[in-house]
Amino acid sequence: MSHGDSDTAERAFSFGLAARAYADLRPSYPVEAVRWGLNGTSGRVLDLAAGTGKLTECLTVVTSDVVAVEPDADMRAELERRLPRVTALDGVAEAIPLPDESVDAVFVGQALHWFDLGPALTEIARVLRPSGALVALWNHDDTGVPWVAEFAALARTTTASRHWADPLVPLPAHPRFAAFERRKYPNPQPFTAESLVRMVCTQSHMLLATPGERQRRVAELHGFLADRPATSSGGFELPMVTTAIRAVRP
Ligand SMILES: C[S@@+](CC[C@H](N)C(=O)[O-])C[C@H]1O[C@@H](n2cnc3c(N)ncnc32)[C@H](O)[C@@H]1O
Repeated sequence: MSHGDSDTAERAFSFGLAARAYADLRPSYPVEAVRWGLNGTSGRVLDLAAGTGKLTECLTVVTSDVVAVEPDADMRAELERRLPRVTALDGVAEAIPLPDESVDAVFVGQALHWFDLGPALTEIARVLRPSGALVALWNHDDTGVPWVAEFAALARTTTASRHWADPLVPLPAHPRFAAFERRKYPNPQPFTAESLVRMVCTQSHMLLATPGERQRRVAELHGFLADRPATSSGGFELPMVTTAIRAVRP
């Protein structure tokens, strides 16, 4: 697999450093987004780059035949602990360990931006049956809300990890896929100041920061939340949004 730069590759494979916290703190996905992605299919579904199984779990609520692929052993172990009935395979998007035309949908949660996109789309098209769909989902802060935009800028959650979720950054066309459709779903999440900052610490830029840099950023984020009456103590709702894109393999 080749990534454009080694920094991106390092970030793409950093999440296992905090697998348990990732599973505990990262938001889940709205069932409406999962249903829209499934588009009525009741066949086999692949959760690619499944991590600790956040999206896998949502898929198992709606459909019964789900297989997961995840390259990071620590993330995969967390998935297996939480979802012992799901088969979780070691593998990457650029070399998916499944036969040709063996699944009806491929879901990717919070990870398409980490793939080597051209080869990954070719592989995804290979494992999809005709009329199957690639569905990519991203949870992100609702930056239409002013305080959330300020927090996101401070936490740096608006950059690489949103990428294709940004309507201004359309996915490049691929010869094996029809045009991408796009939907947005509200996905508000309950947090406290403590749990929100801990959640930000599961993001790749924080996982790879030096201890001093991480400590400085954590203090800034706590300072920001402490200055706002609505977030200074107790629980609050963080306005989040799930962006979903879907493309059918004709
Ligand atoms: C932000 S996590 C998302 C995990 C999960 N899908 C979710 O929704 O919580 C990104 C995941 O992508 C995996 N990953 C990174 N590069 C990958 C690649 N090229 N192929 C497959 N998985 C990859 C990482 O190991 C990590 O578990």
